[in-house]
Amino acid sequence: MDTDVLVVGSVNEDRMIAVRRHVRPGETILAEGVQVSGGGKGANQAAAVARAGARVAFVGAVGDDESGRSLRAELTALGIDVAELRTVPGVTTGTAFIQVSEDGENAIIVDAGANSHVRVELAADTRAAVVLAQAEIPPAVVAAAAELAGAIGARFAFNAAPAPASLDEVPRGADPLIVNEHEAAELLGAAAATGTPAEAALALREAAGARSVVVTLGAEGCLVADESGVDAVPAVRVERVVDTTGAGDAFAGALAAALALGASLRDAAAAAAAAGAAAVGWEGARPPV
Ligand code: ADP
Ligand code: NA
Repeated sequence: MDTDVLVVGSVNEDRMIAVRRHVRPGETILAEGVQVSGGGKGANQAAAVARAGARVAFVGAVGDDESGRSLRAELTALGIDVAELRTVPGVTTGTAFIQVSEDGENAIIVDAGANSHVRVELAADTRAAVVLAQAEIPPAVVAAAAELAGAIGARFAFNAAPAPASLDEVPRGADPLIVNEHEAAELLGAAAATGTPAEAALALREAAGARSVVVTLGAEGCLVADESGVDAVPAVRVERVVDTTGAGDAFAGALAAALALGASLRDAAAAAAAAGAAAVGWEGARPPV
């Protein structure tokens, strides 16, 4: 395989269940409607890489079921190479059950399903400029993705979302480690309580043994920290925020694409900010096809 970005990660079927209010223990309620769409951070980020114009291959797993087949078809239609998307017999495709109440509050249950069975077993002649992983797959698989990057001379980018249980689950040498403010605080623990966001970015770089760190700050843009210091990269102004779901994934995918195509980390962060801004302008996690 020869690609620009190799994404190792999760793919889910998102089942959005509209409810008047969230169901309580012991209760049965009626849904106002159900919407099914493609999700999973790995697949979302692979879609963002393709949207940014880079070649992308996805290493992941689905179950031998209807949602697995339809997700494979969707990713193929988005221009993603799915030759390394395994179908695992006897397990279900990852599913996110998302209750959305009338006041817009989400309550989410994720069944990892086949995402627990992702394997990084690529041919020795695999080529990629960037390997990109997230934390919706087992830590051992993230570690294997980092190892693969080292073995093939690729840059390893890691989006620590959702926040791993501890820094031990963050491979050393990430370039960059991508986190939002909450993930940065969770990974830093008590040390995060003091200091400015820029100090937190530097502290996280040190603590995680990362070559570089990008901390996303929603509408405030992001911070880029590497050996030359910390810089703020502004957000792109959005006239109308439709749905912030997927902004982080769009950002991470676009960042990896720009890096793979030769941009500097700061220029890649600016391109990623534009992709993040675009993502808040559409409904759901993936770009409209
Ligand atoms: P996450 O979705 O992981 O919490 P953020 O909310 O920090 O991540 O968003 C990721 C990036 O998307 C931000 O750094 C920014 O560039 C862009 N972004 C997010 N929300 C907005 C917004 N309201 N306006 C403009 N850009 C945004
Ligand atoms: Na969105």
